[in-house]
Amino acid sequence: MILAANFKSNLNRAKTAAYVQTLDTFCTQNGVDDRVMVFPPASALCVGGLHVSVGAQNAFAAKNGAFTGELAQDQLDEFNIRTVLIGHSERRHVIGERQELIAEKFAYYQKQGFEIVYCIGEPLEVREEGNDALLEYLEAQYEGIDLHYSGLIVAYEPVWAIGTGLTPTLANIELIHSAIKERTSRPLLYGGSVKKENAREILALEHVDGVLVGSGALEVNHFCSMIADAKSLHVHKERVKS
Ligand code: 13P
Repeated sequence: MILAANFKSNLNRAKTAAYVQTLDTFCTQNGVDDRVMVFPPASALCVGGLHVSVGAQNAFAAKNGAFTGELAQDQLDEFNIRTVLIGHSERRHVIGERQELIAEKFAYYQKQGFEIVYCIGEPLEVREEGNDALLEYLEAQYEGIDLHYSGLIVAYEPVWAIGTGLTPTLANIELIHSAIKERTSRPLLYGGSVKKENAREILALEHVDGVLVGSGALEVNHFCSMIADAKSLHVHKERVKS
């Protein structure tokens, strides 16, 4: 499974360094073999640990250049960062990034061989129109995206579930994930109000390959508890598969 923590605009450089160190020690001491990644704010980017990889929350589609306020590939290379989050709902809906720009970033980092965590998800008014409208909305977020890219990880994050404490029902997560899985065979994470109290039941779902966690992962111990849940679920999921 894949467990990813998106710090957004939280934690500073010192707190991030302490977080990564604690997390890495936890993973090593507990023999974790799931993928664990963290996405700190730009000012706190760092080299990952033995087990924990560090990714960027956003990056401009260029090696370097005149792009005021943006990070480009050179700034990621400095920390050996090889994973980038693209299309997060806050970039789409708060910052106003359009699909065209998102697809440009995707194509650039795909060409550079980066692992890309590509985020999709619908706002509440679309969800209220029903599942067909929802899937049609997601379809527009696939525009210009190579859904077969071997470095792709998809994260389904309903916009209305992010930071609200609301989540779809487990049955609905399963339904939407199985529909997304018809479009791509790449790993699929769920995100949106995942926390230590509900991570286990979400991770246990058949079409969920991991979670992308925001506020619920800001305390390193809470994130470690979710990683422990994933580990304990392995045997169970393997049994269901065979
Ligand atoms: P929350 O876990 O705070 O709802 O945020 C989810 C998210 O946006 C992760 O990228």
